[in-house]
Amino acid sequence: MPLLQNHIAVITGAGSGIGRAIAVGYAREGARVVALDVDADSARQTAKLVSDAGGTVDSFVLDVTDRAACTAMAKQIADTVGPVSILVNNAGIARRNGMTGAPEAVIKDWEDVIAINLTGVFNVTHAFLGSLRANKGRIVNIGSIQSFVHIRQPSSPAYTASKHGVLGFTRALAVELGKEGVRVNAIGPGFIETPLNAATRANNPEAVRLFMEHTPLGRAGKPEDIVGPAIFLACDLSSYVTGSIVMADGGYRAV
Ligand SMILES: NC(=O)c1ccc[n+]([C@@H]2O[C@H](COP(=O)([O-])OP(=O)(O)OC[C@H]3O[C@@H](n4cnc5c(N)ncnc54)[C@H](O)[C@@H]3O)[C@@H](O)[C@H]2O)c1
Repeated sequence: MPLLQNHIAVITGAGSGIGRAIAVGYAREGARVVALDVDADSARQTAKLVSDAGGTVDSFVLDVTDRAACTAMAKQIADTVGPVSILVNNAGIARRNGMTGAPEAVIKDWEDVIAINLTGVFNVTHAFLGSLRANKGRIVNIGSIQSFVHIRQPSSPAYTASKHGVLGFTRALAVELGKEGVRVNAIGPGFIETPLNAATRANNPEAVRLFMEHTPLGRAGKPEDIVGPAIFLACDLSSYVTGSIVMADGGYRAV
């Protein structure tokens, strides 16, 4: 039997990169997928990919920074799709200004990154909490190497702070919801080739080289490299795993 049969899985930021790959992978494992993204076209394209492959999928527009919209979306999905038992908090952005950059840029980075990467995770989780508690749900949050360390290659303190926050939030929820059978875990991707870092890959090969030098597997990851851990954490194979982070970073943190 497929690993996610009888589950309804909501994925934020599902219109691109890692979120899209997880949507396709979850559907392959029998989940009914709900692809959410701030960008309507890309969410629709993901839905088409999933349905062309024989999966069951709905897509909706959701900006994770809009708390009222998150609440309304949870109600709409409950009414029109069904009870959600898996939530993947994947939507995220990266910025590259250090703290000593131009003040306007640094402040904008902080506000945008924290609003999407951290408060967005809170907003969506809070909106779907009732359904997740009622269905012994599983929450998978997308963290990062930067849930533990800052990286020297250009990256903003906001991004590192947001991903540290995602790990802290993961642990807090795992502790609070464990007795109810709700499991909450994170994934820590390394350098994964997606539109998020397309500009770095195009314009800063030295940054990529330094990253790969620190990566025992010696290659960048693909979005598909995150799918296995995401399936594992959402299905019963991980029935005694909560409050954890699965690193899918090519070994970066071992060095
Ligand atoms: N690519 C990497 O190397 C890497 C490494 C570690 C962690 N991550 C994390 O993985 C997650 C996915 O990143 P990706 O690399 O696939 O990036 P991506 O840019 O390919 O996809 C991110 C998606 O999130 C959506 N999004 C942005 N703001 C949103 C909002 N306010 N509301 C809803 N959706 C929004 C975008 O439209 C996009 O479809 C992010 O949380 C990112 O921080 C990525």
